[in-house]
Amino acid sequence: TPLVVAVDGPSGSGKSSVSRAVARDLGLAYLDTGAMYRAATWWCLDQGLPLTDTAAVADAVRALPLVMGVDPDDPTVVVGGTDVTAAIRETAISAAVSAVATNLDARAELGRLQRAAIKAEREPGGFSQGRGIVAEGRDITTVVAPDADVRVLLTASEEARLSRRALDVHGTADASAVEATRDQVLRRDADDSTVVQFHTAADGVVTIDSSHLGFDETVEAVLAVVSA
Ligand code: CDP
Repeated sequence: TPLVVAVDGPSGSGKSSVSRAVARDLGLAYLDTGAMYRAATWWCLDQGLPLTDTAAVADAVRALPLVMGVDPDDPTVVVGGTDVTAAIRETAISAAVSAVATNLDARAELGRLQRAAIKAEREPGGFSQGRGIVAEGRDITTVVAPDADVRVLLTASEEARLSRRALDVHGTADASAVEATRDQVLRRDADDSTVVQFHTAADGVVTIDSSHLGFDETVEAVLAVVSA
């Protein structure tokens, strides 16, 4: 029977890298829903849309020609034939993505695409051949897949999240790199929090605090919830 694992958490909690490793370990597909919000943002900016025009953004997202790679070893993101896997990680996208994430019509549309991708992995013919999927983001355990077999909220202290993000973006977690990361990360989490709640676990969701866990230990902790 197919297995659906939902992982949510704030920025820098490690949910993307941990979820990928869990998917790889279990032979499941992997869906990065944050990458979908980023791809939608890239698409709107590429068309020169002002992100404050909520109706235009919603229309653009409804027409989004998005192909999400669900191979945990190669989660390529293609929009309108362009490989945007690297482009969607750029600071300009990180700075703008909350405008799309707080657009409720855009959320409804991306939520539909996410449910369809999860459903496809429950059936033969998907990437996982019906084995299932690990889907991660901000509202997967609560809104997109509240009926998932396994639901995990991955948290970490602000200090741990900022130093991980600094290491990702600047290659170092020294004081100035952490400061450079602080505004961007905390502001985005605050903006996102106005429409999705991802700081405390909903009923039935298992919280894993990774502040004092290494990467492998965090993966093990999620796998332990899966086999429990
Ligand atoms: O890696 P990080 O947690 O910083 O962000 P991400 O997973 O790449 O997600 C980028 C943005 O997409 C978030 O800041 C949210 O604005 C939005 N998002 C969302 O609203 N709902 C989700 N399920 C996933 C992401």
